[in-house]
Amino acid sequence: MDFALSPKHEMMKSMFKDFAEKEVAPVAAELDEKGEFSWDLFKKMGKLGMFGLPYPREYGGAGADYLTYVLACEQIAHACCATAMLLTSQNSLSSWLIYKYGTEEQKRKYLTPLITGQELGAFCLTEADAGSDAANQQTTAVLEGSEWVLDGSKRFVTNGGLAGIYIVVARTSGSRGPKGISIFIVEKDTPGLSFGRKENKMGVRASQTTEVILQNCRIPKENLLGKEGDGFYMAMQNLDGGRISIGGIALGLAQAALDEAVKYSKERQQFGKPLAANQAIQWMIADMATELEAARLLVYRAAWLRDQGKKHTKEASMAKLYASEVATRAANKAVQIHGGYGYMKEYKVERLMRDAKICEIFEGTSEIQRMVISRAALK
Ligand code: CAA
Repeated sequence: MDFALSPKHEMMKSMFKDFAEKEVAPVAAELDEKGEFSWDLFKKMGKLGMFGLPYPREYGGAGADYLTYVLACEQIAHACCATAMLLTSQNSLSSWLIYKYGTEEQKRKYLTPLITGQELGAFCLTEADAGSDAANQQTTAVLEGSEWVLDGSKRFVTNGGLAGIYIVVARTSGSRGPKGISIFIVEKDTPGLSFGRKENKMGVRASQTTEVILQNCRIPKENLLGKEGDGFYMAMQNLDGGRISIGGIALGLAQAALDEAVKYSKERQQFGKPLAANQAIQWMIADMATELEAARLLVYRAAWLRDQGKKHTKEASMAKLYASEVATRAANKAVQIHGGYGYMKEYKVERLMRDAKICEIFEGTSEIQRMVISRAALK
């Protein structure tokens, strides 16, 4: 058993850290305040190859492993959670299904532009009545001659309206539940594809979230991804990988909360001594540091299992569940340590607290993760 990162992983980690500190951290608060998506950061990250980390070089990827990708999520989220979401929406949610199930032609046409940062992608699974109950898909796709005709509406789509490539989950047969669901690739300029309201979110405000509407949206027959009817299983596998990367984002947020808490508690003087001289503060910091290390082990191990080609559905859920709850607790404690200042927007911990909460919700709520874990445990 070896708990150390390899020299290559250490090198990549320090490159991500350097980029996060120099390029992301200086603009993060402003992007959050304005609720503005940064094409500039998207382009810079694409140029560095950050959107194709775990994909082969033959398609334009970096040929690295999943752990490297998780390290990138962690380092970028330390500076800005919304920017780290660019990594997850590109590397896992939009690209992986094409890599795993796409034809060679689909890979050349859609995967390469996504992982080289020429196109932004969006994964469209959630609907008004298909959130946690993802199998309750109401969007339909009907084959008419050489075209699939898509009708329905998707909610809470990350990068909606900005993305050039949409991975859309829809029902292709009359049955209910997980059977009869398929996945399609839809290009932005397709007639019948439009975008509804832009959500006004509590956190990750520099990540755009919209409704995606499909009305008589006709796409070529070849844009079916994988086998007709296998869409639910494919989407769940996609989330297995995505959940590990959300774990990585949560690690970055928790580390940032701990770093801010340590810095402030050493600087801030009350009752003639630094806050850190009080046992109440020391114990909060001890709990934050311990939980963070435990979360890191779970997340890195889940990434390692994926890299080994071993089953990791349960472990991905454990990693996401624990790391995201650790991030929320750490951010909450960091705000508490900052007192009144922590409630003000001038301090990073205020944004960390708002951003951390989404990790307990997207790519499956904590309750859904517990459902996945308990089903595996009780099997
Ligand atoms: N891999 C492969 N197959 C899987 C699977 C997995 N991880 N999980 C389930 N399946 C299979 C099951 O084996 C089962 O197969 P059979 O039909 O052959 O028996 C089938 O799928 C149905 O499984 P369940 O009975 O477990 O299905 P369910 O309806 O009870 O739902 C669920 C399972 C885990 C609750 C699932 O619906 C779920 O994960 N819900 C949460 C959805 C979610 O995470 N949404 C996030 C949206 S994306 C996002 O947030 C990103 C963003 O940008 C904001």
